[in-house]
Amino acid sequence: MERYPGLEKVTDLSGLRAFIGDCRRCKLWQGRTNLVFGTGNPQAELMFVGEGPGADEDARGEPFVGRAGQILTDIIERGIGLGRADVYICNVVKCRPPGNRNPEPDEVAACEPFLMRQIELVRPKIIVALGSVAVQSLLKVKTPISRLRGEWHEVHGVPMMPTFHPAYLLRNPADKRLVWADIQKVMKLMGREVPKRRR
Ligand code: URA
Repeated sequence: MERYPGLEKVTDLSGLRAFIGDCRRCKLWQGRTNLVFGTGNPQAELMFVGEGPGADEDARGEPFVGRAGQILTDIIERGIGLGRADVYICNVVKCRPPGNRNPEPDEVAACEPFLMRQIELVRPKIIVALGSVAVQSLLKVKTPISRLRGEWHEVHGVPMMPTFHPAYLLRNPADKRLVWADIQKVMKLMGREVPKRRR
């Protein structure tokens, strides 16, 4: 991965946001209203990585604030028992792909150094990759999410659990139980008590 000169000198998340600036390093800038950098605790133990902003996120400048975001919020609050402000939430690409298409390889590559620096700066104990774009970008594989989820992987020395994307759960609510199983593994590794039944 090519790094942008000077990126290694950035020492915190606000410095990283400033470094990214009014980004035009890939074509996604043309359609964005707001760049969606990331939100939450800069020293979070738990980091969620999604795919890229949708329309609501583009409008607000914050990740996972639309319908899929409500499901993620439920996972964090009702499932894990934390608040959104306790964890760190970001995406593989920081600008909305037009019409919510998947980000293209050149767009993922242009944004990758920023995601890697976010991981280095937050230094989470665990990463949860949400959906195929996130897990395939982080692991540089093309294996389907259905084969990767539920097992621990490693990114930058950090244990990473892939699970289904919240937007997928909107269409396939029966698979929520699989995501809950994945999240229980995350909670165990965090040393958090797993309730017998989902709260
Ligand atoms: N889907 C994502 O992958 N990320 C968001 O921020 C919102 C929806």
